[in-house]
Amino acid sequence: MAITQSAYFDLSARDIAAPSGCPVDHGFSPFNDSYVADPYAALAAKRAEEPVFYAADLGYLVLTRMEDVAEVLRRSDDFASTNVQHPVYPVGDAAAAVLASEDFNPQPVLSNQGDPVHSRVRKHAMAGFSGRRMRLLEPVIRNRCEALVDEFLAGGPPGEFTHVVGHRLPGETIYRLVGFPEADDPKLFEWSTDRLDFTWGRTDEEAQVFIAESMVAYWRYCVAHVERCRTTPGDDLTSELVAVHAEDPDALSLLEIASVLYGLSFAGHEIVSYFLANGLIRLLGDRAQWQAVCADPSLIPGAAEEILRFDSPQTSWRRVAVRDTAIAEIEIPEGTQVFLSLASANHDPAQFKNPDGFDIHRENSRSHISFGRGMHFCLGNRLATMEAVILLETMTARAPDLALVPDMDISYIPNFTLRGPRELWLTW
Ligand code: HEM
Repeated sequence: MAITQSAYFDLSARDIAAPSGCPVDHGFSPFNDSYVADPYAALAAKRAEEPVFYAADLGYLVLTRMEDVAEVLRRSDDFASTNVQHPVYPVGDAAAAVLASEDFNPQPVLSNQGDPVHSRVRKHAMAGFSGRRMRLLEPVIRNRCEALVDEFLAGGPPGEFTHVVGHRLPGETIYRLVGFPEADDPKLFEWSTDRLDFTWGRTDEEAQVFIAESMVAYWRYCVAHVERCRTTPGDDLTSELVAVHAEDPDALSLLEIASVLYGLSFAGHEIVSYFLANGLIRLLGDRAQWQAVCADPSLIPGAAEEILRFDSPQTSWRRVAVRDTAIAEIEIPEGTQVFLSLASANHDPAQFKNPDGFDIHRENSRSHISFGRGMHFCLGNRLATMEAVILLETMTARAPDLALVPDMDISYIPNFTLRGPRELWLTW
C-alpha cells in the first residue's frame, strides 16, 4: 500500500540483522506475559548480565543502563527519532488502505522529526506549556478533577477508577489546552480509543481498520479546528499557533499546526491515564506512604516523581542509527533500531540506591528518565505532573480511607512502550 517513508507512519515490515559482537537474546519481548505483569525482574537480570543485547524476535538492539539510554537520547546526530511512531508490528492491507486516504497527511513535526523542522516547530509548540498557560489550566483541571472524583465516589464503593476518572481527566485536559469545544468530547474520546495499540500494541486486522478509521476522522477534525481558530480565535494553543502563522507563514504552516494537535492527543492522553493509575497502585500498595501523603500534602510532588521513576507509564522509547556508529563499545551499522529501556534505566543501581524500593522521600527521584533527555525532552512534563499532583491532592483530601480492592489481580495492557492497568478497582 502506497504510504511513503516520509509520512507520519511507516507501515512496512523491517528486517535488520544483529550487530556483530553483541549478545543475542531469542526470548526477550515486552509482550511476554511475565514482562507485562512485571518488567522489572527480567530487566534487572539483563542489566546485570548483558546490559546491551540484540532481541532477535523484535529486531532491536536493547539498552538497559541509564548511562547508555541517556547517551543515545542525547546523541541525536547519530540516533534519529524518526521511528518512534512507526507501528511495531506491520499493519495489514485493509487498515493501510484506510490510511492511504488522500487527505490523511499528518506531518512528522515533533517526537518523530529531526532538525531543522523539529526546533522550528517546538519553539512555537512550547507556548502551549508555558507558565502562563499552566496557571490558566490549573484551576480548570482542579475543578474537573474534583467533579470526576465526586462522581467516582458517588458511584461506589467499589469503583473502577480508569474509566470514570483516569482516562477522562487527561483527555479533557488536552482538548481544553488546544481549544476543542467540550461538546465534541464524546466523539473525540471515541476516536482516540485504542490509538496507542495501533502503534505500540499487537492488534488484529479488524481492530486495525477500526483504529485507522478513527485516526483519519480525528485528523480531519484537527484540520477543521485549525480553520475554525483562524476565523474565531480563542485563548488556546491552536489559536496561538495560528497567530504565529498569520504573522509569518514560513514560521509554521497550517498543516504543521494540525500535525501538532494530532500528535498531542497521542503524546499526552492515555500515558497520563496510566501515570495516574500506576501512582494510585503504588501509593495504596504501601499504606504507610499513602498515609504520609494524606497527612502532609506537601509530600505529593515528590511522590509523583518517585511514581514516574518506580513505575513509569512509559517503559521504553526508540531510536534508529542514522550512520555507522557505536554505543557501549558495540559497533552498530546504520539502520539499527534501538530499544531504550526507560524502565530498566529508572531502576539502575548505578543511579539509584535500593532502586527496587518505592520511596516517596527519595532525594534523587527526579533523575528518572521517564520524560526522556535532550532535544525531544517531553514537552508535556509539567502538565502531566500537575495532573497527577492535583489528582492525588483531591483523592487524599476526599477519600483518605481509599484502598485497593483486596486480592484484586491487576491486569496490565500488553504494549511495547506503555505500562498501565486495564482496570483499577478501588474501595473506601
Ligand atoms: C507521565 C506522562 C508522560 C510521559 C511519561 C511522557 C514521556 C515522554 C517521552 C519519553 C518523550 C520522548 C523524549 C525523548 O525522545 O527524549 C516525550 C515526548 C513528548 N511528549 Fe511526553 N510524556 C508524558 C506526558 C505528556 C503530555 C501530557 C504531553 C502533552 C500534552 C506530552 C507531549 C509530548 C511531546 C509533544 C513530545 C515530543 C517532544 C519533542 O519531540 O520535542 N507528553 N514524552
